[in-house]
Order: sequence, then structure tokens, then C-alpha cells
Amino acid sequence: MKLLAIVHSTHMGNTMQIAEAMAEVAPLTIAELGDAGKYDLSQFDAVGFGGGINAGSHDKKLMQYVQKLNAAPALSFVFSTSASGKGRKQNAKLIKLLEEKGSKVLGSFGCKGLCRFFVFAIGGGINKGKPDIDDFDAAQSFIEDMMKSVELEKKGK
Ligand SMILES: Cc1cc2nc3c(=O)[nH]c(=O)nc-3n(C[C@H](O)[C@H](O)[C@H](O)COP(=O)(O)O)c2cc1C
Repeated sequence: MKLLAIVHSTHMGNTMQIAEAMAEVAPLTIAELGDAGKYDLSQFDAVGFGGGINAGSHDKKLMQYVQKLNAAPALSFVFSTSASGKGRKQNAKLIKLLEEKGSKVLGSFGCKGLCRFFVFAIGGGINKGKPDIDDFDAAQSFIEDMMKSVELEKKGK
């Protein structure tokens, strides 16, 4: 199995830490968004799209990248980190976009990440120490679930 994660993690590197935790337990290649053009997405069984949340959803640059894809990956997954950790709600826009592009989104993951944006920088930021070991464990369980889902899809179930 070959998985790819395209990651846009610009604020604190939080979402990249999540991707790296996933790559410890899965055959996951990590590409920063700026390098995504070097990869042929069709060569992967599933492609993940991850990034920090900016103004309620994934950052515009990641959204625009997905919007401009000529061919969206057949199977995908979405992940994020944010100040609130409300991944279910905050991943929804990117999930919808991927679905509109014809991709089947197998699942999504979100957790809290350190935030030092604007007033949150006072006192060193909020969510200090996040993501933490519990988040990495949860991210690893998530990617294991994604692998099971890919296998089921391959079997045509
Ligand atoms: C410009 C900016 C806007 C943000 N907007 C939100 C937001 O709307 N909701 C939220 O929960 N967190 C928000 N955050 C916090 C980040 O999503 C959070 O710190 C995230 O873990 C950053 O991920 P990254 O280090 O991978 O870029 C914002 C941070 C920045 C810098």
C-alpha cells in the first residue's frame, strides 16, 4: 500500500507533527504543499490532505491546490490541527471540496495544536504542549483505520 499526505503546516508545524506520527505506523509519504507538484497522486492508493485551520477551515492555499487539481485522488482523507480542535466542523469544507471533485473521503481527523496567533501569543500561546502523545496515538489509530478502509475499497466492498 502507498499513501501520500500533502501537508500545509505553516503556523507552528503542528499538523506536520501529526503527519509524522502517522508515518511511523503507515506507508505514508509526506509532501509539503509546495512540493506536491513533484508527486503523481494517481500512484498512491489514497491521498491525505492536512493543515492548520485558518479562519474556520483549511488554509486558502491548500483549498486552492485541491480546487485546481485536474484529477482528484479516487480515495482521500483529511486532517487538521487547530486552536479549538473542532476537526469535525473545521474539516468539513475541504471534505466537501474533495467530494465535489469526485474523491471518496474515507475519514477525517482533527486535534488541538499550539496557537500563538495574535492575542493568543500572550503568555506563550494556548494549547501548550499540543499536539501531545495522546494526539499522536489517536492520529496513528486514525491512519490504521484509513489503511483498513483502503483495503476494503480495493476488495470492492
Ligand atoms: C492566521 C491564523 C488563523 C487561525 N484561525 C483559527 C481558527 O479559525 N480556528 C481555530 O480553532 N484555530 C485557528 N488558528 C490556530 C491554528 O489552526 C493552530 O495553531 C494550528 O495547530 C496550526 O497548525 P500548523 O502549525 O500545522 O500550521 C489560527 C492560527 C493562525 C496563525
